[in-house]
Amino acid sequence: MTQVNRADFLRAGAGTLAVASLRWPARRASASEPVEVTLRSAPLRDGLAYNGTIPGPLLRVAHGQRIRVRYVSGVDVPTSVHWHGLLLPNDMDGVAGLTQAAVHRGGEYVYDFVAGPSGTRWYHDHAFQLGMARGLFGMFVVEDRNEEPADAEFALVFHDVPVWNSIEAALRGMGTAPMNDPMGSPESMQMDGGKMGDEVTYAAHCINGASYPNVKRLAVRLGERVRLRLLNASPTLTRYVRLAGHSLTVTHADGNALAAPVEVDALRIATGERYDAIVVVRDPGAFLLEGLGGDSLASQQAVVVYTEGMENAPPLRASPTLEGARVFSYELAGGIAAAAHSEPPDFEMTLGGGGWKNPRWTIDDRVWPQTPKLRVQRGQVATLRFRNTSEMDHPMHLHGHIFALTEVDGKSLLRPLSKDVVLVAANGGTVTWRIVADAPAGRWLLHCHNEVHMVDGMMSELVYVS
Ligand code: C2O
Ligand code: CU
Repeated sequence: MTQVNRADFLRAGAGTLAVASLRWPARRASASEPVEVTLRSAPLRDGLAYNGTIPGPLLRVAHGQRIRVRYVSGVDVPTSVHWHGLLLPNDMDGVAGLTQAAVHRGGEYVYDFVAGPSGTRWYHDHAFQLGMARGLFGMFVVEDRNEEPADAEFALVFHDVPVWNSIEAALRGMGTAPMNDPMGSPESMQMDGGKMGDEVTYAAHCINGASYPNVKRLAVRLGERVRLRLLNASPTLTRYVRLAGHSLTVTHADGNALAAPVEVDALRIATGERYDAIVVVRDPGAFLLEGLGGDSLASQQAVVVYTEGMENAPPLRASPTLEGARVFSYELAGGIAAAAHSEPPDFEMTLGGGGWKNPRWTIDDRVWPQTPKLRVQRGQVATLRFRNTSEMDHPMHLHGHIFALTEVDGKSLLRPLSKDVVLVAANGGTVTWRIVADAPAGRWLLHCHNEVHMVDGMMSELVYVS
């Protein structure tokens, strides 16, 4: 059976030190013909778009393929394009003010690189002017030639459209109350009088740029293996994705193979994260795939998956709560080691800040650019622990490296997850990363992927000292 083979392949493909299986793309002779792409940003309705659509075009190339992206700005805010989860030379990383100058209206920048590692990656604006929240993002798939193809595949980009003055209020620490876990206790979602915070209010929740029922439906055949590539491009929100009546077999986190697939009923996906999951529909019908969230409009983030002839059947909905559901977690995918061995990390960072009228999100009580830097030697294997003392979750992201997630909330993982974004839970959550310092020399940003927190100071950088 193909499914068994696939599982065996996935197990064989990822060792215990999963990070070791991720290779930089082989440098090919520069004579190899690059794939040429032009990306143009321009205003679209109240937002900004690449090539006229939100999300921007799905870019898809083979591992090791050279791609040349000419980015042309047609917008009034400074912009740049970051290739999230790809391993690239520093001057291709696309961080305005750090790895390149910002691109202004009429200007351009050429990104020319060899695509890798394989998996579900993405690209987005990175010039600290909320370009991503306005719509400048898209999925980037690097095909793995060794992977057995699924029978069908769908790319699903989740995003949320902010109410613009609410994002500005959130930047000043005057948004609504923090709403971390959309499936948490109802009390945690209420705004209680004076306790305002940093949450943004949203006008719409989308999948592939539209809200339910206007999202393009997904046609599947009975019994086929369907791969979903899921990206959460929300400026701030964590989502729980589920498909009514079905489980999801999660195979990859942030584009990188898990040591073994994990079957769940719901998939938690933080801002910036990607997951690949296989679903098999065995009975005819129409089923709603939803990104469950906490606000009253959250049901807009849904799409119908249907089998032949069932396109217009009323879709089955999943239960609105996660009670009794198996929910994907880092611990579930990695397994928890019996003995928590607590070697002190090489580096530790305390995440803090936020709250009423506090527009500062801090690392070790400081805001960017005063935050402490991670100074590493080439070839060093460094461990970094985050401790979150604030009242909001923080999806922390490192550029230029794929690290191993080795610890979550005091629990060591048996099979560390290869990732580039990890959600650090509010009110005391911890996570530890093992980073192999093997990127090209340069400045590699380390930051919270919540766009409000990033702009309000929660950033640091990894610097090569030798
Ligand atoms: Cu997805 Cu610094 O970025
Ligand atoms: Cu944050």
